[in-house]
Parts: sequence; C-alpha cells; structure tokens
Amino acid sequence: MKKQVYLDYHATTPVDPRVLEAMLPYLEGSFGNPSSKTHSYGWTAREAVEDARAQVAGLLNASPGEIYFTAGATESNNISLRGVTRQPAGERNHIITQSTEHHAVLDPLRKIEKEGWRLTVLNPDPEGFITAAALREVIDEHTLMVSIMAANNEIGTVQPLRELGEVTKEAGALLHCDAAQAAGKVEVDVEAAGISLLSISGHKFCAPKGVGALYKRKRGNRVRLEPLALGGGQEEGLRPGTLNVPGIVGLGEACRIAREDLEEEAARVGQLRDLLLAGVREGIPDVTVNGPADTARKLPGNLSLSFRSVDGSALIVSLGDLAASAGSACTAGNAEASYVLKAIGTPGELAISTLRLGLGRFTTEDEVHYAVGRIVETVKKLRMGR
Ligand SMILES: Cc1ncc(COP(=O)(O)O)c(C=O)c1O
Repeated sequence: MKKQVYLDYHATTPVDPRVLEAMLPYLEGSFGNPSSKTHSYGWTAREAVEDARAQVAGLLNASPGEIYFTAGATESNNISLRGVTRQPAGERNHIITQSTEHHAVLDPLRKIEKEGWRLTVLNPDPEGFITAAALREVIDEHTLMVSIMAANNEIGTVQPLRELGEVTKEAGALLHCDAAQAAGKVEVDVEAAGISLLSISGHKFCAPKGVGALYKRKRGNRVRLEPLALGGGQEEGLRPGTLNVPGIVGLGEACRIAREDLEEEAARVGQLRDLLLAGVREGIPDVTVNGPADTARKLPGNLSLSFRSVDGSALIVSLGDLAASAGSACTAGNAEASYVLKAIGTPGELAISTLRLGLGRFTTEDEVHYAVGRIVETVKKLRMGR
C-alpha cells in the first residue's frame, strides 16, 4: 500500500527516536522488576522509574510523589472518577462535566450517575469553551468534583483551566482534568490551575502506546481515592501490577523533550497548521473551521474543517493518501455526526462533511503543501459532481 501522509496526531503519534533510544536498555539488559529489592536489576529499574516520575512531574509542575504510572488516559480517568466516587455519596453528591468530553470520561460518569450521584453535563459555547460564568451557575456546596478536559480531541479547544480552577476551588470541590491531548502540546500546570486529578497519555506526544500517568494532588485539598484494582501494592496501591518500565522510561523522556521544546514546537506546528488552513481557504471558498477562532486558545496541531455540499464519506475515501479522521462515525453505512460537533451546534449536514486534521512533531512543510493540493482538488471534484 502506498505510504500515506500522516495527519492524525490526535489519534496517536509516532514514537520519537530519542524516546525509543531511552527505552531500549530496559527492553534488553536492564530488564529488572522495580519491585525486586534484593539485587541490582531491581535497583536499576527502580531508579529509571523514579527518574521518569520526576520528568513527568516536571512537565506538569507537580511533585514526583504526586505521579502514578498507568496504562494511559482511559485508565487514569477511570481511577480518578470511579476512585473518588467509590465512597458513599454524602453531602457532596454532585459532579459536573461537559458534553464534549472523551468517552473515557463520559462513560464512567454515566455509570456513576446510575449509582446514585447527581451529574450535570454542561454544554460548551459554539467554540467549545466552558466559561467560568457557566460553571459558576451550576456549582454549589454539594459539588464534589468538576471534570473538564484541558483540550478537546476533535476541535482543539483549550479550556480556561485557571479560571475554572478558581471557581471550583471557591466551591470547595475537586477539579479533575483529562489532559490527554494537551500534555506536551500546550502548558499544563497543575498548581496554576489548582487541579486535583489529571490524566495524561504517552502515545499522544511521541511516547509509546499503553503508558500514561495520573497526577493526584497531595498538597492542600487532599484527594481520597479508592483503588479500582487490588494486587501487589505498586504505585502506593493505587495502581497495582508490575510496572511497565520501558514504557515509563519512554513517557519520562517524552515529558523531558516536551518540556524543553514545547514553545518552539507549538510555534512551528501552529505555523504549519495556519499554512494548511490558508492553502485550503485559498483554493476552496466556503470552508468552516470548527473550534476556537483565536488560535492562541486552540491546540497548535488541530484543524477541524467542514466543507458545505460535500459527501463526508466520499471525501475521506477519496483522500486515501492522507491519514486523517472524519468528523463522523460510520455506523452500518450511515454517517452520523460526531457528538462534539453536534454539541457546539454544527448543523448535521456540515458535521458529516468534516475532516479532522492533526499535525505534529514530524509533520513537514512539504506534507502540508501536498495535503492542501489533495484537499482542494478533491473537494472541488466532489462539489462539481453533485
Ligand atoms: C481527550 C482524550 N482522553 C482520553 C483518551 C484516551 O487515551 P488512552 O488512549 O491513553 O487511553 C483520548 C484518546 O483518544 C483522548 O483524546
């Protein structure tokens, strides 16, 4: 099969060669179990895990003791949301989230609601934002937790977490944040935003799949979490099971790289995204950009575009040489608009003609020019054929 241009960085990312290099020793000679206390294999592995913990903490402005390794953001979200609510609902029995969260937040919360907790699902504004005012309207002294993502995986909206954190703190509630898309791309500072629980995922920023981390605040407003799994007591019993040492080392290295290069990379990727948009706009009239108009409040690599009068499934099929994602889920041959686009008020017909393009660390200018040419050509052809 012909190699495709990869423009699906929201789905996953390639592993950075520096990350792979850091991992290799732990797949080869240094294969010890960090729980082995009686020999150097164990000590070496333990040291590598603790170094990685410090690197992850460094990216998030946390302390190493507040970082727990997991298999990814889905697991971190579940440990957070279900862990907090495994205690019987008391005076504080209310949870707030938004309709554009990932399923890894929405599905656990729907289950928690069935278990007797009160759930408020806020609808974001047309650019995908939850404002402090909107949160203030629904939060009260019964609210235990607010769960709002740092950045959206479809439309790139970067939430005003500092402001949302203030409102949450005033109400004495906990702020949980799914930062799977934001970590390593834009600043995520748990202190500045007063975050209590936060999830990250390695494969979204050039570490391998199957490794992530959970931040749990230890200072100030402490969080009580009941573990979901029981076992060997690793990670203070919060996430038992033998640690994925190579993956953890890779995650640590990815955090180190991201911390060092974040601003520069965000600027470079943002410029490529703007170039892509400018090219598409020049070639095709009538393109809608979904998500924030202000690129400073949007993930640098995100571009969600809707093309009026174009059949969405024909578009993605015709663009077979671009690895991108559609703004719809195809069930039994029927395109159904994504719930995120529906939630921000995108009309159904437009939502199903949406392309989600995700640019990242290894995207080149040549690839952007190629993508512009292919998108313009394909959209024009499909519009003519109608
Ligand atoms: C916002 C968001 N949360 C959670 C996840 C799930 O992350 P993981 O694949 O690490 O479980 C994703 C991945 O698509 C995501 O984009």
